[in-house]
Amino acid sequence: MATAALIPSIDSNVSKFVSQTQKMLINGKHVEAASGKTFATYNPATGEVLANVAEGDREDIDRAVKAARAAFESGPWSRMSPAERGKLIWKLGDLIDKHLEEFAQLESLDNGKPLKVARVADVPLSAAHFHYYAGWATKIEGNTIPLTMAAPLKYLAYTVREPVGVVGQIIPWNFPLLMAAWKLGPALATGCTVVLKPAEQTPLSALCLGELIQEAGFPDGVVNIVPGFGETAGAALAAHPDVDKVAFTGSTEVGRLIIQAAAGNLKKVSLELGGKSPNVILEDADIEAAIPGAASAIFFNHGQCCCAGSRLYVEKKVFDKVVDGIAKQAEKIQVKQGFDPDSDMGPLVSEEQLNRVCGFLESGIKEGAKSIVGGARLGDKGYFVKPTVLVNTNQKMKVEREEIFGPVVTAIPFSDPSEIVARANDSVYGLAAGVWTKDIKKAHSIAAKLRAGTVWINCYNVFDAALPFGGYKQSGWGREMGHEVLEQYTEVKSVCAAL
Ligand code: NAI
Ligand code: MG
Repeated sequence: MATAALIPSIDSNVSKFVSQTQKMLINGKHVEAASGKTFATYNPATGEVLANVAEGDREDIDRAVKAARAAFESGPWSRMSPAERGKLIWKLGDLIDKHLEEFAQLESLDNGKPLKVARVADVPLSAAHFHYYAGWATKIEGNTIPLTMAAPLKYLAYTVREPVGVVGQIIPWNFPLLMAAWKLGPALATGCTVVLKPAEQTPLSALCLGELIQEAGFPDGVVNIVPGFGETAGAALAAHPDVDKVAFTGSTEVGRLIIQAAAGNLKKVSLELGGKSPNVILEDADIEAAIPGAASAIFFNHGQCCCAGSRLYVEKKVFDKVVDGIAKQAEKIQVKQGFDPDSDMGPLVSEEQLNRVCGFLESGIKEGAKSIVGGARLGDKGYFVKPTVLVNTNQKMKVEREEIFGPVVTAIPFSDPSEIVARANDSVYGLAAGVWTKDIKKAHSIAAKLRAGTVWINCYNVFDAALPFGGYKQSGWGREMGHEVLEQYTEVKSVCAAL
């Protein structure tokens, strides 16, 4: 809590968040944990306690699920018109825009990301996400279906899409507010009710969002927010017998646990998991665009992106030029605490992630990889890591196979373009991929063969609420965003009437 005093020009609402113990949101009320316990969230730039937060556990999850069930079955939400629902969601988007600075500061303090990045990325994208799903509330349609084996007009058959029910949503810490928006937007548009569990590392912006959800006028119990740890609150939510669906974003390892926990009542599951995304630069690419593009593909958000372009494949003829260019970009990145106006990259989110990323660097270097730039922690206070470019890696090394989730790219030369698709696809993951070339035929034929949920051509990390996102293979089940996600939040009912 000492941190608040050290930071200049802190928003007054933010001071409140970091100076008082934050409660959870259940049935429209801010309440303490049933156990009375709290946990600390830290400022990763300093390692100091930022705020204390009510620690939800099984009993709190149970209270929240009961509230969500009542709101779903018999509350005003269940009788609300789609248009009214859409207006509330739009209003929430507006309120986020209005509180942009407050959210940006909370994200920067709790997660470590540069304030200037949160201001132009995390917060406006979250508002845009709600605005987009506000429009969908009035467009959830079914079909009329002509039966194939019956005479015309013997039956009237149609489908309706109904909300799946009470949804448990478990989100990570890399984009705390945006991940809450990705999850809540489609759930609210379809008429579901929610119990959201933010990540224990970054619970503050979700709790702030909870206040705006109440201010927007959502009925009590429609959105409940229960901060707490994964093994306790998260596991209880995933296993709860009265939850109809669980939506999870996080590690593939925990994704497997979610599936197991969901098996008890066979709740629906959607998963957005890890990645080890290939980013391929062909020799005929616009190299001046590909270099900063590939640097930002890995260094954006400190590499803490599930879709980070962490395996960089570069055609041999341009390999040295590209690697040199990316190393120069890496050297220019100012790694400083997020509130520093010059900061391009803040600390990693936690000591655990610092140790994890440094462990990857050590293992890579021990196995013969060489860091052209970076390769180690920066300083000894806070969880800063130097942007790193590794070369001399091979397909057996952990650094080339596993998700590092830090600012570390492995640059790999290739000489035979006909082999590049197989190499790019040689991963248990399939979340995203990038291709850089001026040859339109090559670009689209490579894109067609990549086993990835998103392929970026001559760009990277372009996100939009309208564009589906999710993974092939072990990168997940289902898609977020676009109209695709609406399927994850609805059941289809076929109605057949004899005429
Ligand atoms: P994690 O998968 O443990 O955490 C993500 C969320 O799941 C958090 O809200 C956490 O409380 C919850 N959780 C953890 N264990 C759970 C359980 N047994 N049941 C229900 N919920 C549970 O990820 P963590 O430990 O924070 O990061 C580890 C690695 O995971 C990272 O290094 C990165 O590789 C990957 N990761 C991927 C993300 C993505 O966007 N796909 C986001 C965060 C992490
Ligand atoms: Mg924190």
